[in-house]
Amino acid sequence: MGESLQTVLRMRGVERTYHDGNQDVRVLDDVDVEVNSGERLAITGESGSGKSTLLHLAAGMDLPDAGVVELLGQEVNRLAEPERTRFRARNIGLVFQDYNLVESLTAAENIELVGWLTGTRTSAAAIERLAGELGIAELLGRRPDQLSGGQQQRVAIARALIHQPSLVLADEPTGSLDQASAEQVMQVLAESVRARDCALVLVTHSETAAARCDRRVSLVAGKLEAA
Ligand SMILES: Nc1ncnc2c1ncn2[C@@H]1O[C@H](COP(=O)(O)OP(=O)(O)O)[C@@H](O)[C@H]1O
Ligand SMILES: [Mg+2]
Repeated sequence: MGESLQTVLRMRGVERTYHDGNQDVRVLDDVDVEVNSGERLAITGESGSGKSTLLHLAAGMDLPDAGVVELLGQEVNRLAEPERTRFRARNIGLVFQDYNLVESLTAAENIELVGWLTGTRTSAAAIERLAGELGIAELLGRRPDQLSGGQQQRVAIARALIHQPSLVLADEPTGSLDQASAEQVMQVLAESVRARDCALVLVTHSETAAARCDRRVSLVAGKLEAA
């Protein structure tokens, strides 16, 4: 046996039911998953199958009705607010389909924002180094409306990575991009997490994006199965 890998995310027997009017909809039904440091896991599944719900639980933005979610060995539902939010901000990076950049701020300021939220100072040099790695060094002074979709998503990836999280959760990050930009963004995302030994959970509909991950599962009828 080699060195033991750190488990970054562990979900055991996770259930999540939404109450919709007078009916219950069990979106997640006994989900088990483990993601180790540096591992990239792709999750596919039909629209409405519960992929975003699963990511919200993994981020501690939502709590399971049953089962356990552990981040870095910490049981998320044992943390009360605002500790849970702080724990998430420190340890997780989030990437969304629609980038979620602040329109009134420059790319550099959007990246810096995480530092303000987590109380860690981000040096200009660190931002420039990361921007260079992601191919957006020339764009740091621009606001989101002066950037293409692919460029905005690279800024969002920089924002997700600047505080050196242990886990990046990405929810259909290439879903709004044309194929060429999607492939560039996915390459940058896959390589940048790899270079940091940061784990990635990627929700995607794209075969080529899923193929850049180390492992792949599919969410079917509330359960994860090998894909
Ligand atoms: N807050 C909510 N309240 C009620 N139903 C919800 C809520 N969020 C999601 N759902 C329902 O749960 C199911 C799974 O949603 P979601 O996790 O967004 O799926 P996916 O990301 O795979 O498209 C859908 O049927 C959706 O309508
Ligand atoms: Mg979704």
